[in-house]
Amino acid sequence: ALVDKGNHRHFMAKEIFEQPEVIGHTLSEYVNPLDDTIRNTDLPVDLASVPRITIVACGTAYYAGLVAKYWFERYARVSVEVDIASEFRYRDAALTEGGLAIFISQSGETADTLAALQYCRAQGQKILSVVNVTESSIARASDAILPTFAGPEIGVASTKAFTCQLTTLAVLAIRTGIARGAVDKTDEARLVRTLMEIPRHVAEALASDEHIQTLSADLAKARDVLYLGRGHNYPIALEGALKLKEISYIHAEGYAAGELKHGPIALIDEEVPVVVISPVDELFDKTISNMQEVIARGGRVVLISDKAGIARAGDGLWAEIEVPPVDPLIAPIVNAIPVQLLAYHTAVSKGTDVDQPRNLAKSVTVE
Ligand code: G6P
Repeated sequence: ALVDKGNHRHFMAKEIFEQPEVIGHTLSEYVNPLDDTIRNTDLPVDLASVPRITIVACGTAYYAGLVAKYWFERYARVSVEVDIASEFRYRDAALTEGGLAIFISQSGETADTLAALQYCRAQGQKILSVVNVTESSIARASDAILPTFAGPEIGVASTKAFTCQLTTLAVLAIRTGIARGAVDKTDEARLVRTLMEIPRHVAEALASDEHIQTLSADLAKARDVLYLGRGHNYPIALEGALKLKEISYIHAEGYAAGELKHGPIALIDEEVPVVVISPVDELFDKTISNMQEVIARGGRVVLISDKAGIARAGDGLWAEIEVPPVDPLIAPIVNAIPVQLLAYHTAVSKGTDVDQPRNLAKSVTVE
């Protein structure tokens, strides 16, 4: 089918704004809203006895894997390793017999991810893939697939595929928790109801679009930008930095907030905007104290937080972006929205080719 931009200037904007709908579609495939349960789609393994999970992917899909690690460990108490495909495939990874290997790929054609899959198969792993293109090489080479129902993604920088990957992986982590007895019926119902709220909260986060557009005009003047996050917001900091560098060509780095003092704090001055992703949660105070170290050194902080977090952050913010207060389970999905919009509007403001950034390809089929 022919895909057009609708009323949007770029495919990327259209795809960002489609997220409530495609996440809703993805959820409807994996959860049953009538009785708040997770659907038992076919899987190649018995999740109850999987000794270990290995997740492999590239680019944005790799960051989805990093978020999933937090979910699998928290909700299913299973140990997870996540790696970049181009590293994983060359390092003689020692895999546990009977292990599950999960590959995440929008296109299903990324050469390094496919090669890593073949390595895992040779090592006796069960192969599960989270793909957006179900007629793809990675899908065909897998024992089972969990499709993301994002629809065709045209913009080179991944957006809606990412949040649909996250949604699918959150469901799988909870399902693994149920199989292992870490999530009981009451927890399952509560978690499923929380998942069902993602589309509404993503729509609320999208309401900051105009505000983000305004502050992006200033961000566009920066030469370097730092992104900080802790826990499940750390991979969102990495993703925010990747998005910005891919499409606006501004140098950006994502860092774990606690690592600030082990290096990047040396870069802080009035010239370096620092985007801090920290809604109120159990790690809030830690991250806010890192943020205050940045402010004390003259850094220009853009805080992404909820209303309560912005109120508690104290003085000295350069800008703030409000996200709705949500359950920690879905926070990384909701927090992905402002970092996408920041990258998008900054790129538009710089006049770069948002949908076809220089030197990048939508799917990397060479090694
Ligand atoms: C390219 C794209 C990224 C994408 C990555 C992995 O670098 O520009 O947006 O995240 O490939 O692609 P895949 O299709 O495997 O998810």
